[in-house]
Amino acid sequence: MTHLKGGRWANLWVSAGLFLLAGMSMMAQEQGRGDAQGAGEFAINCANCHGSDGQGAKAPSLTAPNIVALSNAELIRVVHDGVSGGMPSFAQLGDANIVSVVRYLRTLQGQGDMVGPAAATGDVAAGRALYFGKAQCSSCHMIQGKGGFIASDLTAYGRSHAANAIAKAIVTPDNPVAPDARVVEVRTKTGKKLTGVVRNEDNFDMVLQTEDGRFHFLAQSDLIDVHRTDHSLMPQDYGRRLTPAELNNIASFLIVAGQTTPAEPLPPGRRHGGGR
Ligand code: HEC
Ligand code: HEC
Repeated sequence: MTHLKGGRWANLWVSAGLFLLAGMSMMAQEQGRGDAQGAGEFAINCANCHGSDGQGAKAPSLTAPNIVALSNAELIRVVHDGVSGGMPSFAQLGDANIVSVVRYLRTLQGQGDMVGPAAATGDVAAGRALYFGKAQCSSCHMIQGKGGFIASDLTAYGRSHAANAIAKAIVTPDNPVAPDARVVEVRTKTGKKLTGVVRNEDNFDMVLQTEDGRFHFLAQSDLIDVHRTDHSLMPQDYGRRLTPAELNNIASFLIVAGQTTPAEPLPPGRRHGGGR
């Protein structure tokens, strides 16, 4: 639905700022309410054209990535004002019901907690630049197919985490540390010291992956010291290295990346960014 780009959006932007704020505070008020209200309104007002599951019928699917990528405020605006291609205005429902419907629509889109691009209040481009540049997140974490392997892929992380939760995960890592992410320091009989993450271990062997991504196959009988720390490889000092605005920019980048990348099955054995 590329026709929405350009001119027709222009008049929507006039009140977009105010609307965004109004929308977000309405969302906050909505948090306590169940989805029953929205589900009912959706069934009565939307299902006839968009299908009871929102997957599309007479009117387009509402779970398509380009609709998922719309902010909460934009969705509220669309429902309130309608769209000239046959989507009626639902202003008569009233703001609270419109918010309920949009909230329910987010659950149909698999965006249960309404973390949408509207929650990305930072500068996404600046966040991307930090991720791949100064903050060096990409040296460990892959996102959208680019970056390191030693830590989890963060592509989907922003789909299920709000900005403040992401910022918290960055500045207070290892809270608590996942057992399989613990940094382990070993010393071998030959005096070799290695620091990494145990990828596989039994009574006889240990497979250690060091930060450079390389795997080391070690015999337990060759190890004279094994120290298991209570932290992961994630740096502990981002709270000092990054300003709150920079953290918010990175969080915004992760949120938008999560919203705009179609979900695809991860290869077996790779943990999901939003998994824990
Ligand atoms: C009479 C049929 C009809 C009903 C009822 C209807 N829609 Fe639509 N809707 C459409 C059509 C047609 C489009 C596509 C408009 C276009 O792209 O020009 C659309 C588009 C949309 C879009 C995408 C707007 C965009 O960015 O292109 C959203 C979101 C949406 N509808 C939500 C809803 C919700 C929520 C309801 C119930 C409150 C609803 N619709 C009820 C026909 C309907
Ligand atoms: C030196 C490697 C390294 C760097 C650099 C790094 N991380 Fe991490 N990070 C890890 C490890 C290891 C973990 C814990 C296990 C895992 O998720 O893989 C982790 C955990 C996380 C988690 C929690 C993941 C979850 O599923 O709970 C987030 C979010 C995260 N990092 C984001 C970032 C961001 C954003 C940056 C850049 C500001 C960054 N990390 C930099 C290694 C790194």
